[in-house]
Amino acid sequence: MEKVLVTGVCGGIGKCTAEKLLAGGSAVIGADIEISESIRETAEKYPGKLFLYQTDLTDTDGLAEFVKRIVSVHGPVSGFVHCAGFDKMMPLHLSKARDIEALWKIHALVPMLITAALSKKNNHTENAAVVLITSQSAHEGAMGHSAYAAAKGAVEGFLAPAAAELMEKNIRINEVCLAPVKTPMSESWTNKLTDEGRKRLAESYPLGLGEPEDAAELICFLLSSESRWINGQIITADGGHSVRKV
Ligand SMILES: NC(=O)c1ccc[n+]([C@@H]2O[C@H](COP(=O)([O-])OP(=O)(O)OC[C@H]3O[C@@H](n4cnc5c(N)ncnc54)[C@H](O)[C@@H]3O)[C@@H](O)[C@H]2O)c1
Repeated sequence: MEKVLVTGVCGGIGKCTAEKLLAGGSAVIGADIEISESIRETAEKYPGKLFLYQTDLTDTDGLAEFVKRIVSVHGPVSGFVHCAGFDKMMPLHLSKARDIEALWKIHALVPMLITAALSKKNNHTENAAVVLITSQSAHEGAMGHSAYAAAKGAVEGFLAPAAAELMEKNIRINEVCLAPVKTPMSESWTNKLTDEGRKRLAESYPLGLGEPEDAAELICFLLSSESRWINGQIITADGGHSVRKV
């Protein structure tokens, strides 16, 4: 049976991904800083398949221990997707070191450390797969998102050398680069837009803003053996944004 570690399992993309994996017969080890009522209800629907861990992943000293613990309880992990995170819009001139560090930690350092820990012998199965999530904001001028985008840029820089190393251990690693997806994270900034700003945003995504299912479908494909010929790639899902008529 596949066993996939999903961080941010209570969030928009994490929960949808976990549910898709469970529906496909995988077991899911879900981690989040808060365990929501809604994910507990999902766990009840899949008895013995969804294991929930409440943990602050930014306590990076404890990450290797956390991975060791889940492997000792559930056995080697066959997949990992890092969906935990948050965004904080802040103009560059008001950005504080602690805010930039917090974004860097959860979006870049944490997935690198978990990937490193999982890559150790006995912590992963043969043909395991890792999926990390980057963002369109690392490629376009998204006002107030420079620290978040910089952390996502680091995740993208990590990919090729990590893929080369992990391939020797029979682990694939790919990334999905997402445009806005309707989740609590994007709502934290889209809710602040004016009506005009919201209209312009909608117009720049001809296929609409993403639904969590759109992201989860792609993530599950990259975690599965159906994508066995794909490694070290960033796959973009952007609702037609980059090919829109301007
Ligand atoms: N939603 C978007 O528009 C969008 C676009 C591009 C990329 N992404 C990326 O997709 C991923 C998932 O985003 P989402 O939209 O589902 O976000 P979300 O806010 O819906 O969920 C994030 C989850 O992470 C958890 N979390 C936050 N800090 C944590 C910590 N320290 N330890 C453990 N858990 C923690 C939260 O509790 C939450 O459940 C993130 O990497 C995000 O940057 C999202």
